[in-house]
Amino acid sequence: MSENNCGKSTKCVHTGTFQDCITKGANTPVYTSTSNGFNCESGNLYYPRYLNMPNHKAVADKICALEEGGEEAIIVSSGMAAISSAMLALLKTGDHVLFSEDLYGGTDYFLKEELEKFGIDYTLASAENLEEFESKIKDNTKFIYFETPSNPLLKIIDIEEIVSIAKKYDIITIIDNTFACPINQNPLKFGVDIVVHSASKYLNGHSDLICGAIITSEKLMKRIRPYVINTGGTLNAQDLYLLERSMKTLNLRMQKHNENAQKLAEYLEKHPLVKKVYYPGLKSHAGHSIAKTQMSGFGGVLSVETTLNKEKTREFISNLKLFQEAGSLAGVESLISLPCETSHAKMSFETRCGLGITDSLMRISAGIEDIEDLIADIKQAFEKI
Ligand SMILES: Cc1ncc(COP(=O)(O)O)c(C=O)c1O
Repeated sequence: MSENNCGKSTKCVHTGTFQDCITKGANTPVYTSTSNGFNCESGNLYYPRYLNMPNHKAVADKICALEEGGEEAIIVSSGMAAISSAMLALLKTGDHVLFSEDLYGGTDYFLKEELEKFGIDYTLASAENLEEFESKIKDNTKFIYFETPSNPLLKIIDIEEIVSIAKKYDIITIIDNTFACPINQNPLKFGVDIVVHSASKYLNGHSDLICGAIITSEKLMKRIRPYVINTGGTLNAQDLYLLERSMKTLNLRMQKHNENAQKLAEYLEKHPLVKKVYYPGLKSHAGHSIAKTQMSGFGGVLSVETTLNKEKTREFISNLKLFQEAGSLAGVESLISLPCETSHAKMSFETRCGLGITDSLMRISAGIEDIEDLIADIKQAFEKI
């Protein structure tokens, strides 16, 4: 039976996992050697930075199988390494990039800080208004880069529409699929060319690793792989092993994240102190109908705007007992943060507020705890205000 035809839980557990012929153990052994013999048969020199060690292959094969439509995957040392490598491998001085304006703050900071000094031009525009977005394409535009659902407002972009615009101009598309993760959304199936992930989030899911992934076609990987090898953003064997271990439960975890976030969103939407809940699983969400066509689950992150000012919002957060205030997201534990102080702290006040990321917007990452306990925690934190 080919694993390619299996369901996602089976792929999470089995695909890529490498059986050592001495022990026939259930887990991939950790290959720590950085000095390895030259393999005369394959002509390979095994070296971790060359992305060719067994622990790298185990995880890359697993992610590639889950990101349906992917031909090759590589694992790198962070989500930002995946994002910057995928971009810079394809760009040269004089090129232009079109970005959706709803991006993770680190990506926004990267393009504003790093692209200009290489003479690379870019435009940020709303991809919710597709006609306007298309009008920003220039003769030298090399790719469109977007994120859906976006961090932190969970905006939904129509993937098929973006792909059809890009194809008209023969432009590559890159998507950050971190928030959905391959369990809930497979953009390559809709014609996207390159998927990047912060694997530090759901793919790992235990708030203890920094890593990233790039999944694409064999043809595009021929351009990206040498860039990653040359710039050296490799991930070490122990972390690769931990990522592989975490990914065995990815589908299970994701079902609970999806379920808990949906229930939290529905509870919060009815709360008298809540003005707006941003979650694509809610009928009230502007992108709900598009999300239903391209996602099989709506993810574990939601954002909330209450009637409280920033001071009272802080008080609410400090009243929480189960939700921990922390940057980052997608761990098994429920987390809460103010994006203005964490993921989007480097964005200017005007840009941030223009996008809807106010000083009191709270981003919640629903963990996998019992939903009754999470709701009770939020209820008591509001009651104390
Ligand atoms: C959507 C998204 N993409 C990319 C990143 C960057 O990932 P990393 O911190 O692993 O570099 C993050 C980090 O929060 C993120 O939320």
